[in-house]
Amino acid sequence: MTSSSPFDFSGRHVFVAGGSTGINFGIAQAFARSGALLSLISRSTDRVESAAAQLVTGGAQAIGLPADVRTPEAVEAAIAAAANHFGPIDVLVSGAAGNFLAKALDMSPRGFKTVVDIDLLGSFNVLRMAHQHLRKPGSCVIQISASQASVATPYQVHVSAAKAGIDMLTRGLALEWGADGIRINSVIPGPIQDTEGLRRLAPTQETRDAMARRVPLQRLGRIEDVSRVCLMLASDWGSYITGAVIPVDGGLFLTGPRDFTAAAEAARR
Ligand code: COA
Ligand code: NAP
Repeated sequence: MTSSSPFDFSGRHVFVAGGSTGINFGIAQAFARSGALLSLISRSTDRVESAAAQLVTGGAQAIGLPADVRTPEAVEAAIAAAANHFGPIDVLVSGAAGNFLAKALDMSPRGFKTVVDIDLLGSFNVLRMAHQHLRKPGSCVIQISASQASVATPYQVHVSAAKAGIDMLTRGLALEWGADGIRINSVIPGPIQDTEGLRRLAPTQETRDAMARRVPLQRLGRIEDVSRVCLMLASDWGSYITGAVIPVDGGLFLTGPRDFTAAAEAARR
């Protein structure tokens, strides 16, 4: 990557909430390969420290800090420690999430609340606590949402409620924080292969094949399909995009509600 590349993030601080595995870790890796300094948080000390160590082994500067996004004080402390270490945050990725397949009547109030707490309240905590450490002007916030936010989906009402809230946070904060020079967008990954999220929603090869056939582009997504869009959004090429909700899903959002009955039965077996 030459220094004239719009995707050179040398010396820029990228903070990824939920960054120890899967899509979010793939996003962290993509920024690390482009020269960024990475701060990661997630619940498990082992997972987040080993993710940061993997980035360091790849030649990046990175730290991994344990923090549960449901605990505002822990989030605040981790963000302050990261800003103290690497300076103001240039790119904030908020992607911590939890999911399981369950009909509303098979879910306790605590089950519903758990997902809303992690996804929606957790995102608020991350964005709210990060605000004072975001570079102003010039920072970019990326929320990792899901198609369930806008497509009503059986077995996923908890996720739909939480992710819909995340997309409205994106839109509202684009208005509140635009004058500070902070851009904020949601990215909606489609079904991404080799991820925990897909394992939960399509636990068998048969259900994954059926999912791929539903995608207009006729394939599952790859983590780099998502990470490349995040790099573009954070770069100067994305400098006039804010408040947007961007599907990166091979056109799946055009196809309407999905039926997770077979997947839920397979998960129970
Ligand atoms: N069906 C119905 N309810 C479920 C459930 C399922 N498959 N899985 C969990 N729950 C309920 C639990 O029963 C519990 O409610 P209860 O106390 O009334 O019984 C509630 O959810 C909390 O479960 P718990 O295991 O204590 O939560 P946690 O905070 O330890 O874990 C989860 C959160 C449940 C979301 C867990 O799956 C997780 O950690 N996920 C992270 C990874 C992930 O989901 N990746 C994909 C991202 S898209
Ligand atoms: P994943 O690997 O399970 O990633 C979730 C991450 O969040 C993990 O690193 C986890 O680490 C962390 N996390 C969970 N709860 C947390 C909490 N309370 N506090 C802090 N960190 C927490 O799943 P994934 O499939 O890659 O999903 C990543 C994102 O993409 C999610 O936002 C998901 O909704 C979205 N998405 C995924 C797909 C897909 O096909 N996979 C499709 C659409 C949207 P710890 O366990 O260490 O906390």
